[in-house]
Amino acid sequence: MFDLRKFGGLIYGADYNPEQWPREVWREDVRLMREAGVNLVSLGIFSWAQLEPRAGEYDFAWLDEVMDLLHAHGVNVNLATATASPPPWLSTRYPDSRPVTADGVRLEVGARQLYCPSHRPFRDHAARLVREIARRYGTHPALRLWHVNNEYGCHIDQCFCGLCAEAFREWLRARYGTLEALNSAWGTAFWSQRYGEWAEVQPPRRAPTFANPTQQLDWRRFSSDNLLDLYRSEVAVLREVTPDVPVTTNFLGFLPGVDAFRWAREEDVVSLDAYPDPGGPHPHLDAGMSFDLMRSLRGGQRWILMEQATGAVNWRERNVLKRPGLTRLLNHEALARGADGIMFFQWRASKAGAEKFHSGLVQHVGPERSRVWREVRDFGAELRGLAELGGARVPARVAVMFDWNNWWALELDSKPAALKLLPLVRKWYAALRQLGQNVDFVHPDADLGGYDVLVLPNQYLLAAGAAQSLRAYVRGGGTVVVGFFSGIVDEHEHVGLGGYPALLRDVLGLWVEEWAVLGHGETNGVCFAGTGERHDVENWCEVIHPQGAEVLATFERDFYRGGPAVTRHAFGAGRAYYVGTDLPGEGVRDVLRRALTAAGVPTTLVPSTLSVSVSAVEGGHLLHLLNVHPTQATVLGVPAGAVDALSGEDVGGAVTLEPYGVRLLRYAGEVDLPAVEVVEVSATPPGPGDPLR
Ligand code: GLA
Ligand code: ZN
Repeated sequence: MFDLRKFGGLIYGADYNPEQWPREVWREDVRLMREAGVNLVSLGIFSWAQLEPRAGEYDFAWLDEVMDLLHAHGVNVNLATATASPPPWLSTRYPDSRPVTADGVRLEVGARQLYCPSHRPFRDHAARLVREIARRYGTHPALRLWHVNNEYGCHIDQCFCGLCAEAFREWLRARYGTLEALNSAWGTAFWSQRYGEWAEVQPPRRAPTFANPTQQLDWRRFSSDNLLDLYRSEVAVLREVTPDVPVTTNFLGFLPGVDAFRWAREEDVVSLDAYPDPGGPHPHLDAGMSFDLMRSLRGGQRWILMEQATGAVNWRERNVLKRPGLTRLLNHEALARGADGIMFFQWRASKAGAEKFHSGLVQHVGPERSRVWREVRDFGAELRGLAELGGARVPARVAVMFDWNNWWALELDSKPAALKLLPLVRKWYAALRQLGQNVDFVHPDADLGGYDVLVLPNQYLLAAGAAQSLRAYVRGGGTVVVGFFSGIVDEHEHVGLGGYPALLRDVLGLWVEEWAVLGHGETNGVCFAGTGERHDVENWCEVIHPQGAEVLATFERDFYRGGPAVTRHAFGAGRAYYVGTDLPGEGVRDVLRRALTAAGVPTTLVPSTLSVSVSAVEGGHLLHLLNVHPTQATVLGVPAGAVDALSGEDVGGAVTLEPYGVRLLRYAGEVDLPAVEVVEVSATPPGPGDPLR
């Protein structure tokens, strides 16, 4: 139902909060929007208190005026349901609509996202507001998209109040049917936790020590589902009143509280808010990982970058800005990964409130004298020339498995070592990107058949059905690369016995007897047979017994010295690699290169100062070359036969990129991965804030 053609080109715009400004400013805004090529704004996200100043008393006059004004200037609207921040009258009238923390503290009025998803009167007030908005603007010519609420779970992803406890019990009844089944799933024979009545079952509130892990895991599942139910309650109204207007809600990507795979099924188009830290070493990879996740949520469907900063945010301890050119570069990173739209938070930097030092398209200094404005305006013009990207596909032969259930379970307390999933996923993701791959993320229950290689960085939780489909995938000729501490527990967080990883022993051709967690600062080494390549490893080693698997690398020290660290096993028509330790990035990359090569997937070695990707467009392919470094670079090994999509020149061989420069090279037909090599980087010394300093 989402159709980019209704937007008149790729989407460009921002959150627009006119209620913070007098009318004269609105007129300047629409003039400047035109100048910048803005064709969509997200409107009304935090407008509840303005739209319904007192319960049941609506004031739409100002919004009517803004909608008409935008339309008159050719700007479309992504209209919010305005429910993201309930007004003080609501939170005051219904004190129990305010969420409660795990410690039993009820949160106070004066910020935003102050709602308990289970609170009926809050939901009823919200639904009524949504109905009013949908009725009033459902046929407005500027309306293109509904923006439901805002960043669900951003601040409050769990509410531990009595109403939520009741909803949790209902959710558990639906999941388990009987208390017997719940007791068995939660393993309540441990520590005398057996439940005799449903009323005894509670959220995992602050307890004397470790709460029951399955209770915690089910609580995370429930909390995501409970928010999803709230989302659904708004969407139901929109579908009823405006069945033809597409619906989205803006995700935060890898946000722990929202299982985006489950949510995305209930949107027409996926949208993302991305705030990579420009002060971090590789913001394009941090952002790129979320971009790839967004494209993966609905099977490759294109998505919208709904929010990002033009410069600095306000909410880090140190808010490093985006240096000149970096915003454009990250925009291209999004376009290369399937974005249909490039939007920002927010149009005009606020004068008051907690976000007054957050950058905007129009900065405090005003547009005329602003570097940010010039960049924003220039990019708007550039985007108009890139319309063909709107139909591009991002073909990936490799996928990284990702599942919120696993994320939650892995990071519960009392594990052999406190592991964090995202850094591990990022390490494998970065290595794949360095090998020149487009990367999808795939849910374990999805169809795996389309990929040549699947990577499971740390799939600690693996349900029996998912293990079965992995097995079928490898048997049928697929390649899996499995990282340590994978396939350990089932969906109830119960350990598979008889040698780890119980459900994958046959596929991997080995069993693990015990884990050897390394102390802080302790290392071991692994050495690859044949090549002699070696790596120091930290954190995690294992005592592995091959049962059919071939040993590729062994540990160098300790009582398991000479024992397998990395293995490969032929299973059916496919292959399964296992990495029983925490290899550094280069080690991960080398294992992946072997696996990809053996699976017939070409690789290259992309320098860390470049981002390389390929998209499929009508009549050929585009090679996206992005210089993620603020110095000039010349790239060698670019396949011949290309036309520069921006300038129209013929190129090939060597291509020069300005600092943070971008080249889009069009090839008729297929394009080989370039044997990329950066030969020359200008001598400008990296300054403070240089991402690669
Ligand atoms: C989120 C929110 C916005 C704003 C920005 C600031 O993305 O959706 O309302 O608070 O963060 O970075
Ligand atoms: Zn609650």
